[in-house]
Amino acid sequence: MTVARQLTINNEIATVESPDDEPLLWVLRDRLNLVGTRFGCGEGECGACTVLIGGRPVTSCSIRVGDVSEPVTTVEGLASPDGTLHRLQQTILDLQAGQCGYCISGILMRAAALIERLGADLTEADVRLELDAHLCRCGDHTRIVAAVLQAASIKQ
Ligand code: FES
Ligand code: FES
Repeated sequence: MTVARQLTINNEIATVESPDDEPLLWVLRDRLNLVGTRFGCGEGECGACTVLIGGRPVTSCSIRVGDVSEPVTTVEGLASPDGTLHRLQQTILDLQAGQCGYCISGILMRAAALIERLGADLTEADVRLELDAHLCRCGDHTRIVAAVLQAASIKQ
């Protein structure tokens, strides 16, 4: 059954109509046109669809929209409202840490949450462990890890 609901997404209230059991990923992409969040495996295995819910990384293909009760942040909400990129977006660009880019939005979300949590204390081992949940078919892992470490070292 389709029901109307309100979600807080990227600090704005969005009203959507969808069944409770529709994956959040489809609500974001198909109903709200937030297509920066990618569909990869659809089974919680690749990390491409990762968003933040209540500040924690969640694969949006594996959560029902009816179970979402905290604010959602997608890659479209990572930059500042004035358009200034998040420091991790900037270091990924600076280090060219992406080829096709398909995996990058999910990695950005999980790694941004990690930087938020650990800041400059972040180690390479922390990054590798955390990003183990993400596949990158282009094999850009080394540059991605370097970009995360560089972003974490930037004073805010
Ligand atoms: S599409 Fe969600 S984890 Fe792969
Ligand atoms: S940059 Fe292509 S999948 Fe990661």
